[in-house]
Amino acid sequence: MADFYVTTPIYYVNDAPHIGHAYTTTAGDVLTRWHRQRGESVWYLTGVDEHGTKVQRAAEAGGVAPQEWVDRLVTESWRPVLGTIDAANDDFIRTTEPRHQERVQRFWEVVRDNGYVYEADYEGPYCVGCEEFKLPGDLVEAEGGGPPLCPVHGRPVEMLREKNWFFRLSAFTDALIEHYERHPEAVQPASAYNEVMSFLRGGLVDISMSRSSVAWGIGLPWDEQQVVYVWFDALLNYITAIGYGADPGSEEARFFADTWPADVQLVGKDILRFHAVYWPAMLMAAGLPVPRCVFAHGWLLVGGEKMSKTRLTGIAPEQITDHFGSDAFRYYFMRAIQFGQDGSFSWEDMSARYTAELANGLGNLASRATAMVQRYRDGRLPAPGSPTDDERALQDLLAEVARAADDAVERLDFAGAIAHVRRFIDAVNLYVTEREPWVLAKDPGEAQRLDTVLYTVCEALRAVAVLYNPVMPRAMTSMWGQIGAEATLGPIGEQRLGDVARWGQLPPGTTVSKGAILFPRLEEPAE
Ligand code: MSP
Repeated sequence: MADFYVTTPIYYVNDAPHIGHAYTTTAGDVLTRWHRQRGESVWYLTGVDEHGTKVQRAAEAGGVAPQEWVDRLVTESWRPVLGTIDAANDDFIRTTEPRHQERVQRFWEVVRDNGYVYEADYEGPYCVGCEEFKLPGDLVEAEGGGPPLCPVHGRPVEMLREKNWFFRLSAFTDALIEHYERHPEAVQPASAYNEVMSFLRGGLVDISMSRSSVAWGIGLPWDEQQVVYVWFDALLNYITAIGYGADPGSEEARFFADTWPADVQLVGKDILRFHAVYWPAMLMAAGLPVPRCVFAHGWLLVGGEKMSKTRLTGIAPEQITDHFGSDAFRYYFMRAIQFGQDGSFSWEDMSARYTAELANGLGNLASRATAMVQRYRDGRLPAPGSPTDDERALQDLLAEVARAADDAVERLDFAGAIAHVRRFIDAVNLYVTEREPWVLAKDPGEAQRLDTVLYTVCEALRAVAVLYNPVMPRAMTSMWGQIGAEATLGPIGEQRLGDVARWGQLPPGTTVSKGAILFPRLEEPAE
């Protein structure tokens, strides 16, 4: 079973991933690794959304059958991007997998048996980019007339007229309002909560749960002319992947009972309504518990607008990781953009932070520390002498920072958590500058002070490695090895955040080695 279940949205496979997609997966991964480091068993699910008009049309435009299209993109792009950003997900679901398709059908049979599905005509606007039946208030006027535009994609909506099966969404207005009044933490941040509440208070109308003019999807078990509307297929991945609908008594069924509801479901703000309104209503209709928290993050913007393939503004994650590495990618997006708000990516900003905070800040501290232990103590970590107020102040700061960082991650304030760790790194850097170990080294009478300073800096790096490991697992594993912690304290992933501030864990005598530079200085890429 999992103590903590985290999900990302499943991504449309109409095209290759861009950094907007990698952003959500990175946030989920940092959260996952943080909770693992707390000692919790975490289940982290991500995956791809393969059905619907958008994917079908992309395949047609590419001149191949939809299955071939998605198979190729998933193999060549979507699975590899998880490696590109070092995602430690436990499962990857594809909506074309039999486990998903069968369970989606089972789910809708249950909801129909419960009386929440009926047949009717739909007539109205549809945005293929969003795969969404739009409400009148959702659209913006096109300049110069013509069909109104979807504000997310800036493209005209299509008018649909279909006989569909409807989901009785309106039956859940009151139950949802009541639920969220009792659990304001269930939709975050507060701006997202307010948006959902005002949408709910406006009253819900029933919505099509099937499509008759789309072929690429999961067939309705009771009407072979129709497929499940892509969102009402995709949202179910969060439960089909963990064993909803598995044979009663099976291990999978037990895993589902122990793991659902999700603790955190990460979504972009554009898909909040699906996750905080339609999704819990579907679950209520099937008699299942609703997620504990849906957190809506902001958009990565280009020129003030959402980065997207439709707008041809997508940047591939490897364009950034090839230059800066995966750790810097993860660090930058969690550090530079307040999670929950929009932010712009700029190469210059990333370069500047990489140099100042990673190469000069942390990287330099680590290489100075290991070099000094080598030079002055033959690579053996000395035993410290009695601490002075300086060392005690650093120990106290560490305890405070570790607590504050944990509280910040609890609120999904990744930038805040990183800022706390940086406060500690800055203080350690200042300590080295002020204590001047290179001066102490010249005076044999100061040998014990030098031992204390060297020990203090390495012990501080031990704590930094653990605190930053969820954000930068590669560099921190390397630093962990360099300070000799791997050999003496065991794997970094097994260190507990609750214990990180306990001072004096690195045993004196540990071999400290100067390994690879953690954050090498980078040349500007050629134009
Ligand atoms: N397939 C649906 C989700 C189904 S979940 C049951 C979908 N896919 S998507 O590929 O369009 O978007 C998936 C996620 O990527 C969303 O959370 C979306 O907000 C995020 N992003 C896509 N572009 C983004 C940015 N430019 N910036 C930040 N996140 C972005 O919607």
